Parts: sequence; structure tokens; C-alpha cells
Amino acid sequence: MKYKRILVTGSAGFIGFHLCRRILERYSDVEIIGIDNMNKYYNPVLKEMRNNILKKHENYTFLKLDFSHYDRLVENLKDRDIDLIVHLGAQPGVRYSLKDPWAYERSNLLGTLNIFEFARRFNIDKVVYASSSSVYGGNKKIPFSEDDRTDYPISLYAATKKANELMAYTYHHLYGIEMVGLRFFTVYGEWGRPDMAYFKFAKSILLGKPIDVYNYGKMERDFTYISDVVDGIVSSMERSFNYEIFNLGNSKPVKLMYFIELLERYLGKTVKKNLLPMQEGEVVVTYADLRKSRELLDYNPKVSIEEGLRRFCNWFLENKEWILKL
Ligand SMILES: NC(=O)c1ccc[n+]([C@@H]2O[C@H](COP(=O)([O-])OP(=O)(O)OC[C@H]3O[C@@H](n4cnc5c(N)ncnc54)[C@H](O)[C@@H]3O)[C@@H](O)[C@H]2O)c1
Repeated sequence: MKYKRILVTGSAGFIGFHLCRRILERYSDVEIIGIDNMNKYYNPVLKEMRNNILKKHENYTFLKLDFSHYDRLVENLKDRDIDLIVHLGAQPGVRYSLKDPWAYERSNLLGTLNIFEFARRFNIDKVVYASSSSVYGGNKKIPFSEDDRTDYPISLYAATKKANELMAYTYHHLYGIEMVGLRFFTVYGEWGRPDMAYFKFAKSILLGKPIDVYNYGKMERDFTYISDVVDGIVSSMERSFNYEIFNLGNSKPVKLMYFIELLERYLGKTVKKNLLPMQEGEVVVTYADLRKSRELLDYNPKVSIEEGLRRFCNWFLENKEWILKL
């Protein structure tokens, strides 16, 4: 790894945790400074548990910090000789952005501006940041390619992610910072996010509760297993670019009903399904075109939905005592 002191924002989050763990396990000469505000959008006990695993590594330093406060960011990080930022911290979730849009304004707009300003002020050459497949909105043309128009976000969450890509371009143009945006497609796996549908489904299946299935189950998602996403992030850190955006998906959309069937199979129980109409802000299909990521990142997702869900369900079953209380 050509970078030696990496700032990872959202390090106690799902993707941040897996990325930090990968780097700490594979590169003994790399130090990570992780920041997270441990907010309560979903149960912070899970964030604490992930963070405790990371803290066992001597090359991991954790600071509980909210990056929507610029002065605190500067005060705590200015003398730390950071040579790369991987900005994964954000207010995620499409549905919640209809309830509390200000949380998205603070973390995703102001927070990301603060991170980019910090990079400019302290001469950090490169920022890798999280975008989302949700920027493709209701696009009809599939698979979604990085060249497609993304001017019609259908949730505020998507609008903030699109705004991040535009802000990144400006910081690249004005200050020459290398900016790499990664559009993740429905990432799932062990230590995942309890607010996401697959996690809620697994919980309900084990508790014997019915699940809400929107658009009467007629949806497809390009589910991407966490280790494949981490491969893509690491590759985007190691290669040099100017300003780029990459899809990190699986390019194999899965029908929601088949997905639920797999969960039932690996958890060993069936579930009652409440078939409901489509929810505001959601899209019917996500499907990543990976030609650019394959070519420039050598990105090649390896874990099938069957294998990924089998691993997730095994982890879930082994830890169900505490997971079911989340
Ligand atoms: N998981 C997915 O399927 C998915 C899909 C598309 C995009 N993304 C994006 O990937 C990134 C990581 O997502 P994740 O799934 O790991 O989510 P996560 O919620 O598990 O992780 C994000 C972390 O950021 C922290 N955070 C939020 N606001 C903060 C602030 N103001 N200051 C400091 N820390 C703050 C949270 O406490 C959380 O631990 C996010 O930018 C998300 O929008 C995720």
C-alpha cells in the first residue's frame, strides 16, 4: 500500500469496519485513524462492537468525532500527517431521508464539504468517497453505467450523494485533489446494517414475524457482498486517477422473492409475507454495468448471492442471542 496514514470516516460503520479490518490485517506498515460519531440512526451497540474489534489492532486509532463540526475536525486531525482520506461516513438510508432530511444535510452535505476542505487545507492528495447506486434514480436503461445521466434523484439521500460527486469534481478542478467516487450497490454481509431490508427480514424470519414486501415483491437488487466491495475500495486506493467515478456492484440483479427464499433456506424457517405497494423514494431495479470498474480497477466480484447469504445467515445464527436484541 503506497499510503501510510489513512483517515477512514465512518470507521465503526458496516463498510468502514470491513475496510479497516482488511487493511489492518494485510498491511502491517499502514496506520489507520478512524473517526465516527457513533450516532443512534441504528443501534450504536453494533458500532461499538465493530469498533472494539478494530481497537485490538495497534495500528488503529479511534476518535469519536462528528465531521459536521469543521473546527473539531481540524483541532483533532491537523497534526496527524494523513496521506489519504477514505470518506465512508454518512447518513445512509433512502426511506429515512423522507423523515429527517436535515440529518442528510448535516452529515452528507456539510460533513462532506468539511472533509474536502480539510483535504485542501492540509494538502492531502487524494480522497476516496462513497457515493451510491441511488444516484441513478428511476433510470430505465439497464445496466446502469457511470456515463448515464444522474440528474433526477428520487430521494434526498440520492440528491446528497449526487451533490458529493459534484463537490468532488470542484475540489479536483480547483485544487488538483485526486477524487475517486464509488457508487455502491446494496452491500450486504456479516456485521451488516440492521436498518437494511435483508437484515430486517432475517430478524423477522427468526422471530416468526411477518415481513413487509414492497411493490408486491416485483423488485430486483444488485446485491453486492461486502468482501467484493472491500476489494474494489482497496483497488481504488492503490491505483492513481484524476477524477473518476466507479460502480461497485455485482452486475447480477436478484429478484426480491428469490432473495427471501434463500434467507428462508439458510435460516431454516419460512416467513409470512405482507405484499404491499411501492414505497416513495425506492427504485424497482438496480443493476451495475461493471465494464469501467473491471477495466480500470481490475474489479471482479467473486461471491455469488447464494454463497454470500449463506455466510451472512451462518453469522446471524451463531450470534442471534445479541443480534435479535438490536
Ligand atoms: N451499505 C450499502 O448498501 C450502501 C449502498 C450505497 C452507498 N453506501 C454508502 O457507503 C457509506 C458507508 O455505508 P454503511 O453501509 O457502512 O453505513 P453505516 O451507517 O453502517 O456507516 C456510516 C457510519 O458513519 C457514521 N457517521 C454518520 N454521520 C457522521 C458524522 N457526521 N460524523 C462522524 N461519523 C458519522 C455513522 O455513525 C456510521 O457508523 C455511506 O456513505 C453510505 O451512504 C452504502
